[in-house]
This record gives sequence, structure tokens and C-alpha cells, in this order.
Amino acid sequence: MAGHVPTNACHCEVSHYWIFLSSTIRTLRRRKNYAFSRRILNVKVFNSKTKMKPQIGIIGCGRPDKGQAVGHVRGYLDAGCEVVALCDISEENAAHLRNKFGLTARVYTDSNAMLAQEKLDCVSICLWPHLHAPVTLAAAQSGNVRAIHCEKPIAPTWSEAQKMVEVCAAAGVQLTFNHQRRFNVPFQTAKAMLDAGEIGELESMEAYCFDLFDWGTHWFDMMFFFNNETPVDWVFGQVDISTTYAIFGVPLERFGTSHFAFKNGVRSTLVAGRDDDIWNGLRVRLNGTKGSLEVGQARHSDDHELRILNSADGWKPIAVEGSISGDDAYLKVMAEIIDSLQTGKKSLLDAQNALATTELIFATYESARRRERISLPLEGVEGHPLVELLREKGAIPEGTMVS
Ligand SMILES: NC(=O)c1ccc[n+]([C@@H]2O[C@H](COP(=O)([O-])OP(=O)(O)OC[C@H]3O[C@@H](n4cnc5c(N)ncnc54)[C@H](O)[C@@H]3O)[C@@H](O)[C@H]2O)c1
Repeated sequence: MAGHVPTNACHCEVSHYWIFLSSTIRTLRRRKNYAFSRRILNVKVFNSKTKMKPQIGIIGCGRPDKGQAVGHVRGYLDAGCEVVALCDISEENAAHLRNKFGLTARVYTDSNAMLAQEKLDCVSICLWPHLHAPVTLAAAQSGNVRAIHCEKPIAPTWSEAQKMVEVCAAAGVQLTFNHQRRFNVPFQTAKAMLDAGEIGELESMEAYCFDLFDWGTHWFDMMFFFNNETPVDWVFGQVDISTTYAIFGVPLERFGTSHFAFKNGVRSTLVAGRDDDIWNGLRVRLNGTKGSLEVGQARHSDDHELRILNSADGWKPIAVEGSISGDDAYLKVMAEIIDSLQTGKKSLLDAQNALATTELIFATYESARRRERISLPLEGVEGHPLVELLREKGAIPEGTMVS
């Protein structure tokens, strides 16, 4: 059984070393030395004086070598944590994950049994979206979990997404969502260059990906990241539902467009679709008063992850380590969320940030459903406006893809 201490007490000791490190990182950030502060963040979370490693549970062990849980476990182990409990309705999937990392974790097939029996510093929820809310609520209300790190997208309905955040806040449980791209080096480098004024003041952003929900959640989230979490004022959206499909059980449009205005005046557009004639790369472009930055791959090119246009010489590639999808992000994610748990510092993956992204997604769909521009905060929506549109049309897709 994992270390038994009273609920909400610290399950592991915070050393003076960490207090010193955290204050150094804050000072560096104040001085805008982002690169150096991130390098410090990448050191192991706990030093040798720590008496007990943070105790971790995983719910949803994933398809062997394909599921998200692999990245989570790797990140926790790298951050000096101990994975003590695994849960999956498939014993085979749990056994594969346990053996892959040589874990001695106890294995459960029922998440409620695991949550009743384990005292956990953090639990990762790597389930399909329709299970995120019920399992997050159960974990938050178990009294045995201090932090929950849940996979994206938050939930398939707006009311569930809001409830997850409310219940965790009321229970004093840290809640984060795995928009891990915030930690990929090309995005972090672009943000540092934007903050350093290399393209002047941010005026607009344009982004391209596969869909508004499963992939869109990352791209909307990155646009909030680049615009310092500024709230959105209004959104105008459209969807083509002449054909549909589903990923992880959630229906998706054939094409989608979201045009929105942040409250600081920055305008943004996301265009989504998989067909060749609409596909325009997998990228986010930032347009400033003095130039543009682009992260990701353009339609006819995959030879750069980051490039800049701020002189008459045209676009210049910028050499960066890693890619927009690199697994290295998970190492930084788990170190950061455990650090947040120790220090109380707000995580970049904080639930409020993810909720703003989710509100924008559902507001985009609601705009398409109502054929109106939608002002935020989003009102009059409980479920999923795209699902309602598809029900009216009798076009709920059969079957589901796993990406
Ligand atoms: N952050 C990212 O970039 C990214 C990438 C891919 C997927 N995801 C998200 O991660 C989540 C999981 O995706 P995945 O690819 O790991 O899925 P997966 O199908 O590989 O794994 C899900 C696991 O959950 C188990 N499971 C199902 N019901 C359960 C229950 N009630 N209790 C316990 N276990 C149960 C299944 O047996 C399976 O092992 C999804 O929300 C998906 O959108 C995120």
C-alpha cells in the first residue's frame, strides 16, 4: 500500500533545495531569461534528501506502445516519482505498461477500487473523452488524490468540462490537462521570440489542423499560450457536415472554421479539415507589426519546425531541437505539474487555461449551429452543439477512429 498520510497532507517532503530553486526560477522569469529558467526546470524534481517520492496512479494504461499512458509514465519516472498503481479494464494493457517500465505497481481493473485503496499525490487519466468527467469527479471526491492530470480534450460536453473544474477547485485538488505542446521546444522558442519583440506587437494568428475538437484543442490552446491567456471576446464559426467521422468516440465535422477576437484586439482564425483540397499544413502562424513567425509544417514543406519572416530576405528557418510533437514534452510536463503541486505555482497546463480553450471550441460549434456570432462567456449551451446539429440531420457517425 502506498504511503498513508492524512488527506490533503503533503505526501512527500519539500526540501530547502526546491524552495531555493523555485525562487531562482521566478527571478529568472522576472528577468525574462526563459531559456535558462527552463533548463533549471528540467532537472529532476526531487533531490536525494526527499524521504518519499511522489506517489502516482494511472487510469487507462492504453493500447500497447500506442496509448498516451506511456508518455505519462516516462515523464513521472524521469521526474523522480514512483508509479504505484495502474488501472485498466484490460488486464493485458495494464500488464504491458507495467512490464514495459519494470514497475512494481499494484494493478486494478476498477478505477473506483483503486481510488478507494490508494493514497496518491497525482493520478493521470488517460481514458477516452467520455470517461474524463466521471473518473475525474470520482478521483476528486475520493479524498485520496492531491492532483489530477487528465488527457485532452477535457470532455465531450460543455457542462461536464465546467463541472470537472468546479468540483476539483472545491475539493482543493490540482487539475491540469495534457496540452503538452506548450512544452515542445519549437513553440517555446517562438513564444520567447515573440516576447522578445522579434516580430513586433502581435496582431493576428492563423492556424491549420485536422479538426476543431480532437486536434483543434491543441491549436486553440497554443493561440491562448501565445496571447498570454487573454480572454476571447467573440467567435464566428462554420462547419461542413456533409460527411462526418468520430475520433475517440466524439463526432467531428468534415471541415471547420473558427474566427475569433481576443479582448486585446488580436484576431485569430483556425481552419480545419483532412481533405487534400482544404489541407493547409499543420501549423500556427503569428503575425506581428514587424513580421511573422510560423511553428509547424506548411502545406508543401516539412523541412522546418519554426521559421521567421522579418526582413527583405524572406522566410528564414530557425534551428530548434525537437519537433512540435516530440515526446520530450512529457518529461517537462510531469516535472512541471509535480512542481506546481509542491510550490503552489500555477501550472502552464492549469485547468482554467484548458477550460478557456474548451469554451472557445463549443462556442465555435454553437456559432455554426445558431448561424450567429457568439459572445463569450458562452451561455445557453450544456451539451455539444455539433452533436445536436448532427442529431437534427440524422447524421451521427457510426464507428470511431483512434488517432
Ligand atoms: N495529448 C495528446 O497529444 C494526445 C494524443 C493522443 C491521444 N490523446 C488523448 O488521450 C486519451 C486516451 O487516448 P489513448 O490513445 O491513450 O487511448 P487508448 O485506447 O490507447 O487507451 C485507453 C485505455 O483505457 C482503457 N479503458 C477503457 N475504459 C476504461 C475504464 N472504464 N477504466 C479503466 N480503463 C479503461 C482501455 O482498455 C485502454 O487501455 C484520449 O482522450 C485522447 O484524446 C492525447
